[in-house]
Amino acid sequence: MLGALLLLALPAYADWQYRSRPDLAPPKLNITVYDAEKVSPEYLFIAPFTGAPGNTFHKPRQSAPYIFTSDGELVWSGYGAFGTWNANFQAARYKDDDVLFSFEGDHNAAYGHGHGHHTVLNSNYDLVKEIRAGNHKITDKHEFHIKDEKTALIEIYQPVPRNLAEFGGSEEQQWIINAIFQELDLDTGEVLFEWASLDHVSPAESVLPLNEGEAGSGYNSSDAWDYFHINSVDKDDNGDYLLSARDTASLYKIDGKTGEILWKLGGIPGVTSSSFKNVDDFKFGFQHHARYVWTSEDGKKQIISFFDNSAHGTEDKDGSQVHLNKISSGKIVEVDTEKWEAKLLRNYPAPYGIRAKSQGSTHLLKSGNVLVNWGSEGSVTEYTADGEIVFHAFLDSDEFSDKVQNYRAFKFDWHGYPSESVAVLSEITDDDETIFYVSWNGDTETKKWRFHAVQNGSKKLLGETERTGFETKLKINKPVERVFVEAIDESANVLASSDDVLSVEQVLPAEKKSDTGILPPKFNYFQWRLQKDN
Ligand SMILES: *[C@@H]1O[C@H](CO)[C@@H](O)[C@H](O)[C@H]1NC(C)=O
Ligand SMILES: *[C@@H]1O[C@H](CO)[C@@H](O)[C@H](O)[C@H]1NC(C)=O
Ligand SMILES: *[C@@H]1O[C@H](CO)[C@@H](O)[C@H](O)[C@H]1NC(C)=O
Repeated sequence: MLGALLLLALPAYADWQYRSRPDLAPPKLNITVYDAEKVSPEYLFIAPFTGAPGNTFHKPRQSAPYIFTSDGELVWSGYGAFGTWNANFQAARYKDDDVLFSFEGDHNAAYGHGHGHHTVLNSNYDLVKEIRAGNHKITDKHEFHIKDEKTALIEIYQPVPRNLAEFGGSEEQQWIINAIFQELDLDTGEVLFEWASLDHVSPAESVLPLNEGEAGSGYNSSDAWDYFHINSVDKDDNGDYLLSARDTASLYKIDGKTGEILWKLGGIPGVTSSSFKNVDDFKFGFQHHARYVWTSEDGKKQIISFFDNSAHGTEDKDGSQVHLNKISSGKIVEVDTEKWEAKLLRNYPAPYGIRAKSQGSTHLLKSGNVLVNWGSEGSVTEYTADGEIVFHAFLDSDEFSDKVQNYRAFKFDWHGYPSESVAVLSEITDDDETIFYVSWNGDTETKKWRFHAVQNGSKKLLGETERTGFETKLKINKPVERVFVEAIDESANVLASSDDVLSVEQVLPAEKKSDTGILPPKFNYFQWRLQKDN
């Protein structure tokens, strides 16, 4: 009877990876390269989602922000912590505190736009605040970048009516997207700076003309021509902005006071206009995530990193992809405003021939390693500075994971102190043993778990065990009816205690976790973990 009840209580999407948290079904990272010596030790931040429209059979079952250790062990499942669709999940500093933020809102997959806001959580995973665009506009998903712990750079896709005749538009084709960015005061929400692409960049600069698939045809505000497709903003110490515009295949430097374009780095020599000559005619296009890396003292040279998709969605009139370089890559480029030359300093080409038709990021880590995220292709690769691959993971595995996507990926130091309580399950087996399972979603500090029996109101120590991962297991050779567990940190302090928990009769054998979700069990998580551990 107990067994039947338990089975009925299982949520449809859980996959029984964790006994203490049967509600969670985090992605199973398929790590194909792992060099323990060379990989950067920070935590991996991702927010994978299914690219299969309306297809609940595809992975990940729980699209959400996640934190993993650098060897792929779950630290935090943010499923349910943020609202609906999430992207651009990161750690940051805000007013002397460590915080997490993520975009949450609606995702228009057909055009690659998002409509929503950004949510900031503290290191207890509790809400700090939500931030929205100013001037009666709706925040887009692509950027949220905190500067100096005080302001945030965000973007807006604003459809506006325009006469598009000179760009081939008919009388019915009158909608174009004005690509806007704002710098907001994080405390007050005040708009400190606003810039709009149509004031500075002619639609003629688009490499995706009106009428071409995903970029829109301009017939109505939902189908507005996305001639620019802004997808990142950064700001340097001089207060000047760096923009990435996917659909003009160019990066722009914007004067932080006047909004004027200081220079344009075109990605396709002979097609895009450019302030620079690209040394050796290096090419890039449909790129993402441009960041200032370094500025020379006289300000005349700057180094910039970005993700070069070199591919776009179903963008030409036949519905096929537009391609540039054969595969996607992370790129580091130096621009010289004396010689007006741009030089490709480093290139981190994708393994497995990956070509990401959308999304992607390139994160330079403080170790010197580089984390490249392959967007629509649902995988991440970490390189040493000189290009050796030291980590590669597909962000979910098995035959249902082919549509997994992930907008950006990062690695950060993080200390999580969950405000939720420690989760414990204790099961009594047919052989009168007790098996304990304990976890604490988001905790980074527990080193040991201490298990106690509760008898007649007093506690009795049963045993202690090292934390082994998201969930830790302990077996005792006797039945224990009522237990509680303590989390012990590095300095032997008790961080937290669970509630008293009544043991339950064991339902599934401990060593054979089966997939109890809606899909037949095709993939053995433990087999894979073993392979990975060896
Ligand atoms: C907008 O235009 C597109 C392209 O013609 C069309 O498919 C779509 O149905 C239109 N949407 C609305 C709301 O009229
Ligand atoms: C992991 O990825 C590799 C490379 O694509 C693939 O061959 C392998 O089957 C995957 N493993 C699992 C468990 O899905
Ligand atoms: C708990 O208390 C009851 C009644 O006071 C007693 O009969 C029982 O032996 C006690 N059990 C333990 C394990 O001390």
